[in-house]
Amino acid sequence: MSETPDFKPGLEGVVAVETEIAEPDREGGQLRYRGIDIVELVGHYPYERVWGLLVDDDLDSAMPAPEPYEPARLTGNAPSDLQAETARLSGVWKLGKLNEISDEQAREDLGRLSAQMMGIVARSARIADGNTDEVTAAVVARGGTAAEKFLLQWRGEADPKAVRAVDTYWICTAEHGLNASTFAARIAASTGADCGAALSSAVGALSGPLHGGAPAYVKPMLEEVAAMGDPEKWVKDTLDSGKRIMGFGHRIYRAEDPRSRILKETARELGSSQIAIAEQLEEAALAELERRHPERPLKTNVEYYSAVVLDIAEIPPALAPAMFACSRVAGWSAHILEQKKTGRLFRPSARYVGPESRSLSSVA
Ligand code: COA
Repeated sequence: MSETPDFKPGLEGVVAVETEIAEPDREGGQLRYRGIDIVELVGHYPYERVWGLLVDDDLDSAMPAPEPYEPARLTGNAPSDLQAETARLSGVWKLGKLNEISDEQAREDLGRLSAQMMGIVARSARIADGNTDEVTAAVVARGGTAAEKFLLQWRGEADPKAVRAVDTYWICTAEHGLNASTFAARIAASTGADCGAALSSAVGALSGPLHGGAPAYVKPMLEEVAAMGDPEKWVKDTLDSGKRIMGFGHRIYRAEDPRSRILKETARELGSSQIAIAEQLEEAALAELERRHPERPLKTNVEYYSAVVLDIAEIPPALAPAMFACSRVAGWSAHILEQKKTGRLFRPSARYVGPESRSLSSVA
């Protein structure tokens, strides 16, 4: 009889792929893209060049500028608009199946799609704001970077502080190994589906609150603490009532999440109106979490200061998952290409625990 493989709910700790793209350094609290510490990238290279590093292993390469495109009918719900439109682009652009096209063609498709996906989120956000008129292509083209183009497409203007906030956030969250959405992208790619199908699968997986949504909870939390005026008491009351403090703890990092450090510095430099209360709450939360869990480091994670930085660019909390999708197009594209080059069709097993063979009459 063949051996039954160990069952790991959620596949936690199961190595499903080998990757050359990124390495979260669990103990040292560093995150490296293709071996480069992200600290060396933020503020030195714009997001689109970091896209080039992740996808092509080349900082001189870049995600292209978006080409003219008319989305079908956006609703203002950014994650669903993005998922639908990305899938639709496969048909509009007649994208080839990954198992039938060259690696070069796949790279080109991923670049076009990535650039367009940011434009779709910006247009959807514009509709959510109640603006029905479109920003002209000439205005968007004035943007020097992807972050600037994104804000121009959304609002018709791009404040330099907001550009820097979005660029920093996108770089910090561009890639993080085999999380649920990246796995979804690789699963679709492993079947030979086209790049639009693989990327829209990733967007669907990201749209759930357990993956891409935590910053949405942080801003209301900071407002609540500010209104109460006593972070220590707020932390104790919250933990006593059995709740978790959003933005603390991480499955991978046992040291401080390096992205949190970078985002905090950015929030300070850009003069965030929430930085003071965020730092007070952080101090109170870290002290109390350490007291209650001395065995387990529960440090600040990426979502906490992401929320503060996104607030500088006046990104509404509801748009947080779609903003995350914009940044993650780099990681997803890199993984889709890596899957095409080195991967194998995913076909895990399920252990059957249902009823024994039985007669139809027993259920009819
Ligand atoms: N606030 C309070 N307690 C927390 C906590 C938090 N943010 N994160 C973990 N804990 C506690 C749990 O209550 C649990 O305590 P117990 O053993 O007494 O029951 C213990 O730490 C272990 O929790 P567990 O869920 O097993 O840890 P994990 O490492 O698997 O979880 C997270 C990682 C991110 C899911 C978890 O830390 C969390 O829920 N954080 C808040 C949500 C968040 O910020 N999400 C964004 C992640 S990037």
